Amino acid sequence: MKNTIRKCISILLVMALLCGGGLVANASYTQDSDLFRQSCTVNGDTAAQRGFCWYTKTAVDTQIRVFANGRDITSTLKLDDVTCTAWEGNYMHKVTVKGLTAGTDYTYQLKGDTAWSEPGAFRTDDGDDKISFISIADVQASSLENFLKGVRTAKKGLEVNPDADFIVNLGDFTNDSTNEEWDYYAEAFDSFDSRVTLAPISGNHDGLGVWHWFDNMFNLDKSESVQNLNGVNYSYDYGNAHFAVLNTNDALSLSLAQLRWLFNDMRSTDKDWKIVFMHKSPYTLGKDGKWPDALYTKATLTRICEATGVDLVMSGHDHQYLRTKSLKLNHVVPDGEGVTYVLAGTAGSKRYEIRDFMFNHFITLDKLAALTVQRDGKNDLGHYNQCYLQDGTLDHVDLNRVGGVFSNITIDGGKLTLKAYVLKDQAEGETEDVLTEIDSFELTKETGKNEITFTGDNSTSPVRYALGLIPSFLSLAVYTFGNWLPRFLCMLPDLVYTVVTKDVF
Ligand SMILES: [Fe+2]
Repeated sequence: MKNTIRKCISILLVMALLCGGGLVANASYTQDSDLFRQSCTVNGDTAAQRGFCWYTKTAVDTQIRVFANGRDITSTLKLDDVTCTAWEGNYMHKVTVKGLTAGTDYTYQLKGDTAWSEPGAFRTDDGDDKISFISIADVQASSLENFLKGVRTAKKGLEVNPDADFIVNLGDFTNDSTNEEWDYYAEAFDSFDSRVTLAPISGNHDGLGVWHWFDNMFNLDKSESVQNLNGVNYSYDYGNAHFAVLNTNDALSLSLAQLRWLFNDMRSTDKDWKIVFMHKSPYTLGKDGKWPDALYTKATLTRICEATGVDLVMSGHDHQYLRTKSLKLNHVVPDGEGVTYVLAGTAGSKRYEIRDFMFNHFITLDKLAALTVQRDGKNDLGHYNQCYLQDGTLDHVDLNRVGGVFSNITIDGGKLTLKAYVLKDQAEGETEDVLTEIDSFELTKETGKNEITFTGDNSTSPVRYALGLIPSFLSLAVYTFGNWLPRFLCMLPDLVYTVVTKDVF
């Protein structure tokens, strides 16, 4: 009932704003073509704050105004000054809005050169123990056509759960992080991103080697970040859950400084649920799972998650859907005693096969609870390498599983439910949406049991971070030569066989 009332109020507010409605005097609601790449993101206290970022073509004074119950309440809020920074031929604007009221539906408008934007909407955390969110990953498009395929998947997620508190994008927003690609992203996603709060995660295509792009696309709480060159790490609470967002572009995957930050961050909360979002996946059957960074991430991150009581890790990067059973020390344990890892599939159109050669070398089938490869057909040599997990064995692909993936996650007190879906690709002329549930699982726990065990300073100075890079790379090198290389060499015959017979590396 509460959600229905909220929805009705939101619809009425947006309709009133769109029509002029007399709610706000002297307002123009024409879309300003000079304003683009707008986003509303989590930024610190989710009950009281939001971060906004948008772009203009020229250096103009910009503004934001916020409405509650149809009334302009901007003057009652604490607003930092709107910053304006030149970036790659455009002008980036950021502002953090503070002093919002918990559990409230808001709409907002951004001003470009002349006119105000279409209204966007968000809802602040009401602090109860019921929340839900949608996750997507790896749109990683270069063309407007493929961005539109990605946003089709994301919109279906909001159709399945229109009351989602926020959207998680697990990284690789674009392919090459160029102006042209971010413009395509904005053209496809702007109206979607303004409907609900976004929690963005930096992917390797968004940051590594294209410095500062990710940081310049979103207004995030950088006070927690170890470094901002290739992405941002941050954390936030929502309801009875604590979320830590990692930046896996840091020192090729995760620096020792960021691992220490995660360890302390997860010990500084007594929320019932602890969830980690990151781009690169510790458990995967995709092509990137065979490199040292994936195994090093698994070796280091999993120990911290186990030690601090993390329940769920969600990641992307490998463009297939995979869920592990509950794992501890890389062994299957009863639910509630270990960590569940979900590789979230791709909402986009670039999809990976599984790599058979990794079986029994880097991963064993008994650890997996669900797997869906989102591809169809045969490879160039005529071999099937597309499949899904059915009752513990791999089967050929089901055509209803060929499409974009999103997940809907709900938390209700001591129960977490994740349902993952494929939205089937549409053939030319096809208009019907075919949605297939590819995974569903529950985690349950006794609430009120977590305790705060860290209260110190969890920040890292630039000097300390720079000094820590040497041991970070040394640690990765020692792991690579001492652990990864011997296992890779054992796997090599199977890898060569797959290259020769299936033309897959
Ligand atoms: Fe990636």
